[in-house]
Amino acid sequence: MQVSVIVLAAGQGTRMNSDTPKVLHQVAAAPLLHHALNLAHRLEPARIVTVTGHGGEAVAASASAYSEAVETVVQDPQLGTAHAVAQAAPLLEGIEGEAIVLYADTPLIREETLRAMLEARAKHAVVILGFDAKDPGRYGRLLTRGDELLAIREYKDATEEERAITLCNSGVLCADTKTLLSLVAEVENDNAAGEYYLTDIVELARSRGLSAGVVLCDEAETLGVNTRAQLAEAEAAFQARARAEALENGVTLTAPDTVFFALDTYIGRDAVIGPNVLFGPGVTVESGAEIKGFCHLEGCHISRGATVGPFARLRPGAELAEDVHVGNFVEIKNAILDEGVKVGHLTYLGDAHVGEHSNIGAGTVTCNYDGVMKHRTVIGKRAFIGSDTMLVAPVTVGDGALTGSGSVITEDVPAEAVAIGRARQVTKPGLATRMFEKLKSIKAAKAKGQA
Ligand code: UD1
Ligand code: CA
Repeated sequence: MQVSVIVLAAGQGTRMNSDTPKVLHQVAAAPLLHHALNLAHRLEPARIVTVTGHGGEAVAASASAYSEAVETVVQDPQLGTAHAVAQAAPLLEGIEGEAIVLYADTPLIREETLRAMLEARAKHAVVILGFDAKDPGRYGRLLTRGDELLAIREYKDATEEERAITLCNSGVLCADTKTLLSLVAEVENDNAAGEYYLTDIVELARSRGLSAGVVLCDEAETLGVNTRAQLAEAEAAFQARARAEALENGVTLTAPDTVFFALDTYIGRDAVIGPNVLFGPGVTVESGAEIKGFCHLEGCHISRGATVGPFARLRPGAELAEDVHVGNFVEIKNAILDEGVKVGHLTYLGDAHVGEHSNIGAGTVTCNYDGVMKHRTVIGKRAFIGSDTMLVAPVTVGDGALTGSGSVITEDVPAEAVAIGRARQVTKPGLATRMFEKLKSIKAAKAKGQA
């Protein structure tokens, strides 16, 4: 079955009290918009159209950053949800199959829920996603009779009796694409808000002899973000769900409540994640890897059998091959560590390649930045970088080479060589004792002067 998705993202989001368009605020290290696009993507849709308005250019840029395949249209001015859908019509003309409307500010809808809606299309021409609201507030109310949805009444237009209904409209809907577009074209704005309500298509469909129905979901799924408080609530709900899914998929989380996932985090089976680990965007952890406590990971790949942390920071472009060990207070950025590399302590590796089974001593730094440009450090296989080596890039250390502790390496080191780049030690017998005695007498003389 072919599906197209229309994502409504034109709203202003005044209550966020922000210069940033609402749908670009983040949950799980991704803009709200990307949550909707990610959900849409899972249906392998023929088309995804995002309707932008407020902050249109930034929102459109964010949509194409998610995927080149996402198309955008501008809705200006914003005259209501039906008007928003109508803007997508030129892009969807002649497209067969189902159309689903999503809101970009509603990040918790599940794929299964959309699939249930697509299935319900066998019975109804228009399928609405509804929920039973604890506090129905200003949501549109669903007026039903048995299995039939008769109308959606917006709060502003509802009678007292209708306002007492707790069955509410989530905003998500599904219909045949052509039918949806022809229905929204007929919507008028003679209502309390003077807006073109998408919700009016239910009554319009019925007047054509078509039926409408409701698929229900949990209220938690339809949480819409209008305020910073709701943004925090959505974050908490996303994390709770991601933790449960990780556990379900065979990942060990020793303290699940302290682990934070990004929208696109991927963790393989039998991986072990310690307490207080934060995943930024773009992290994949293969089966059986271990991330110990207090690590901060972003844009990196960790292979099978690797161990990371505690207290490690992996930044974009960090690639750890199998059985790599990265220990405490190590930062890695844009660096490939081949199989079996060990970086145990207090090290920065940036813009580097480390060959298999090399050992990087404590306190090693790749000096990759000259104040203007970045340079690469290349370390061969089975090399031994002594503690506190400064590798001033661009520089290469050959296979099996060794650098002396405390060296500042500014020239390439050939394979199997030893390079020492530090001042020779000078030792003066008895000098320490004489120095301390002198210092003590200076201190005593000063104290006497003050008395
Ligand atoms: C809408 C529904 C209401 C439902 C509620 C659920 C209508 C008329 N009402 O009301 O039944 O209970 O959502 O949250 O549809 N948007 C545009 N262009 C516009 C107007 C809105 O793109 O001109 C977008 C917004 O960015 C947002 C979504 O559509 O993503 C919903 O708009 P909003 O104004 O929040 O609708 P509600 O009044 O909450
Ligand atoms: Ca709303």
